[in-house]
Amino acid sequence: MTVMTRTKFDVVALSKHIGAEIRGLDLREKPDDETVRAIYQAWLDHLVIVFPGQKLSQEDLIRATGYFGELGELSRPPKYFPKGYSSLLPGIMLISNIRENGEPIGALPDGEMMFHHDMIHAEVPSKATLLYSVEIPSTGGNTLFASGYAAYDTLDPAVRERLEGRRATHHYNYGSTQKGDNRGTVAFAECTHPVFRTHEDTGRKAVYVNRLMTVGILDMPPAQSEPLLNAVFDHAEKREFVYEHVWRVGDLLLWDNRCSSHARTDFPSSERRLMLRTTVKGTVRPY
Ligand code: OGA
Ligand code: MN
Repeated sequence: MTVMTRTKFDVVALSKHIGAEIRGLDLREKPDDETVRAIYQAWLDHLVIVFPGQKLSQEDLIRATGYFGELGELSRPPKYFPKGYSSLLPGIMLISNIRENGEPIGALPDGEMMFHHDMIHAEVPSKATLLYSVEIPSTGGNTLFASGYAAYDTLDPAVRERLEGRRATHHYNYGSTQKGDNRGTVAFAECTHPVFRTHEDTGRKAVYVNRLMTVGILDMPPAQSEPLLNAVFDHAEKREFVYEHVWRVGDLLLWDNRCSSHARTDFPSSERRLMLRTTVKGTVRPY
């Protein structure tokens, strides 16, 4: 007789609106299906989940990514590998400021990044992103996560009414982390999506525009759209809707790009930061 015993774990909320730590799971071991469902539910409830103290191989990271959907394709195979790595499994990319022959070995190498949703400039953006920390600087390089649900629910009705049912245009040039670098550049990709997105798992609406990539509202002149968008960004980035993650080596974070945005604080360029990253493919066009 087989008895399904769900692996026990604790879910500890990290802020009022977003973020929870999952304690008591070692992701080198495969949880049973019921446990995976419970983790998925905790993720839907908290938008961002942290698995602290992990010691993951690349295979472990790929397997854990699969608990949340289909593995996204690798967009940037590296030319150089950090110490201890001679190859990367398909689907894993590096986020790192480490340089070999003067070139960063990973994507998004340096410093501060504005709030954004990963791949919002694509027709079907990534559902989720996982980031696993291998090396971290002594200070900074924190990742901030903002709840798009909380921002939507509390948005000034006058602003919300003018944007409800509208679509926004997103523009992104790979590698840029500040709007100044992004705007006016040749688009890596450009796309329009609803300003407020309905989440296909929860049915809740979330703010789905961001300061880094959103450049306008469809069929609205910039003189009108810019103040509206700026009002939404200022609101959505308020501290009360944000959880700031201070990394420890061995943290695995999973975030939901459908209902949250994220940003990064600056960190010393003289110190190494290395993360392994995977994504989960989106399943629907945002609606
Ligand atoms: C990303 C990202 C933030 C960070 O990988 O999409 O935004 O803290 N990373 O490196
Ligand atoms: Mn990102």
